[in-house]
Amino acid sequence: MNSDGDQVDSGSAASGATAAPATIDAATALGQARRLGLPRLDALCLLEALSNKPRAWLIAHDDVDLGPGTATRWTDLLKRRLAGEPLAYLVGGREFHGLWLDVNPAVLDPRPDTETLVDWAIEILGQDVKTTPHVLDLGTGSGAIALAIKNATPTADVTAVDLSPDALATARNSGERLGLPVRWLLGDWWQALDPLTREGAATRRFDLIVSNPPYIAEHDPHLPALHHEPTQALVSGFDGLDALRVLVAQAGDWLQCGAWLLLEHGHDQAAAVAELFGTPPVCGGHWVDVTHRLDLPGHVRCTGARWLTAKPAS
Ligand SMILES: C[S@@+](CC[C@H](N)C(=O)[O-])C[C@H]1O[C@@H](n2cnc3c(N)ncnc32)[C@H](O)[C@@H]1O
Repeated sequence: MNSDGDQVDSGSAASGATAAPATIDAATALGQARRLGLPRLDALCLLEALSNKPRAWLIAHDDVDLGPGTATRWTDLLKRRLAGEPLAYLVGGREFHGLWLDVNPAVLDPRPDTETLVDWAIEILGQDVKTTPHVLDLGTGSGAIALAIKNATPTADVTAVDLSPDALATARNSGERLGLPVRWLLGDWWQALDPLTREGAATRRFDLIVSNPPYIAEHDPHLPALHHEPTQALVSGFDGLDALRVLVAQAGDWLQCGAWLLLEHGHDQAAAVAELFGTPPVCGGHWVDVTHRLDLPGHVRCTGARWLTAKPAS
């Protein structure tokens, strides 16, 4: 089918071995995308990645061939996006809290909802009188939360943990490209902090801990639609609360007295997370000021509380 149709010449040379790989122009590509039901904004983002040209140029020069091989690459991108692959994986990045982050299938595609957690963290750090507040991001993935906090609060000393070496490498790359220094630690939640214990008491306790852990139940019916993203970033036990339980139960060992733990969770998990904060911790101390925050669509998306090292008055 020619380039006005819904299929594109793959570039293989039916007419002879020396033919150049097929090229495509923006008008043809956008026409195909429209006929196949892909939103125009997605199509423009894919074309920008394909051609390395800004969308204003693509629109102004929509009859200019984008170069040899672009027809085949366009077909591949179009098919993958229509099959549900996240746009961020196809273009290799995503904007989050004003930062362009590297994003690939090793990391969760950062969601706008998570900016609620970041804004809350920045607000708390803004009230902190410490010159160098110590901040911890557990389950950093693309580094979205850690890097956004470091960007907004340059004086903060930020540590970020993840169990996935590939995720941590992705986050580190973004940090280096953006010039945002963060201490990246590989490991399982609190165990990943062992190197800090060896460094000494100065970094032993944090002024703020934040996390967007996996929180989807293992049989949740929405999971099949998310199969492009790492299971480890999404699923957390029978009821989705396994990671949140571990984080709330042990955070007291790592927080300064009066410091906040802020957690993102599912839209229907706020009550369960508040209950976790109400469970007497094994390490002594207790939680106060249990507070919720809404995401942009108005769901209770985050819950946090302050840690007091003293036992509650009986
Ligand atoms: C929901 S994703 C959040 C990613 C990122 N913070 C964000 O908001 O976009 C959860 C992250 O937790 C990490 N994770 C899962 N289990 C972990 C564990 N036991 N210890 C440390 N990180 C873990 C996953 O690899 C994943 O990157």
